[in-house]
Amino acid sequence: MIKKVTVVGAGHVGETVAQRLAEKELCDVVLIDIIEGVPQGKALDLSEASPIEKHDAHIIGTNNYEESAGSDIVIITAGIPRKPGMSRDDLISTNAGIMKNVTRQIATLSPESILIIVSNPLDAMCHVAYETSGFPKNRVVGMAGVLDSARFRTFIAMELDVSVENTHAFVLGGHGDTMVPLPRYSTVAGIPITELLSEDRIKALVDRTANGGAEIVKLLKTGSAYYAPASAAVEMAESILKDKKKILPCATYLEGEYGLKDLFIGVPVKLGAKGVEDVIEIKLTDQEQTALKKSADAVEELKELLKTLSF
Ligand code: NAI
Ligand code: 2OP
Repeated sequence: MIKKVTVVGAGHVGETVAQRLAEKELCDVVLIDIIEGVPQGKALDLSEASPIEKHDAHIIGTNNYEESAGSDIVIITAGIPRKPGMSRDDLISTNAGIMKNVTRQIATLSPESILIIVSNPLDAMCHVAYETSGFPKNRVVGMAGVLDSARFRTFIAMELDVSVENTHAFVLGGHGDTMVPLPRYSTVAGIPITELLSEDRIKALVDRTANGGAEIVKLLKTGSAYYAPASAAVEMAESILKDKKKILPCATYLEGEYGLKDLFIGVPVKLGAKGVEDVIEIKLTDQEQTALKKSADAVEELKELLKTLSF
């Protein structure tokens, strides 16, 4: 393959991202983890599936960052996931240390790469990666909105018994309980769901979306979601690798857009070869703007908490 993508963290999300990247034949993949043998074993297992899955992507598993040198994209999934009863925010101090350590090595060896951050708490981890890497804001982007929107789309399709392919949805804000699903911009075959569903039903779907991560954690008991998160991260990587310029909700660094400054939060962006090529400002109602501000305040609190932690 011409393109090279490194996936840091060979756990549930990382291994699934590696699988999807390879099976879509998007790039060669380097899978890194701190646990000896695990990335090597998973990479070899994935490679042995390649004759059957019919792809020629090379997949290397390693504990050594040297192998990641010159990556076009680095997807960072390293960190601990939450368990039942934990919020994403409870992960902050452990994962901030991991994020700093990982980003420092990646920035040295792949100075031109685009970072896609996955580890939680997502918006705060984007800050750590941004500050540690020193990369320009267009080359640090967080995955959350694509996942949250996919969840909303799934619930809309289930509710109306239509194809998921007919659905479109937007979820803005931080990746937490304060996320802001936007029913007005969520459609089925171009028809806003506000025309198709009662207010009560929309509220139920919005609540389920906002608690979508916790719903899976409660069922799995030992970790968090990974199939849909991996699909979301790969959709972002594909848009960058193929310079598709898809408009996707992603965590990006805002400098005044939506009235917000100096923080990473989910808004629609154009994702292409340069990373975040544009922030799309859509018109929000007063109520939606207030909800986005509340979500931004929650992200801001975590940012302040980061300053008090030594990692
Ligand atoms: P996991 O526990 O299955 O995998 C994490 C992997 O990171 C482990 O293999 C671990 O050994 C590795 N790791 C830890 N420290 C490392 C280091 N310094 N360098 C390299 N690797 C290291 O967890 P899972 O389910 O893959 O989740 C990973 C992270 O992604 C969690 O923080 C989780 O909360 C987050 N997540 C975020 C989502 C989002 O929407 N942004 C969605 C799903 C998960
Ligand atoms: C999720 O939403 C854990 O953030 C992850 O599933």
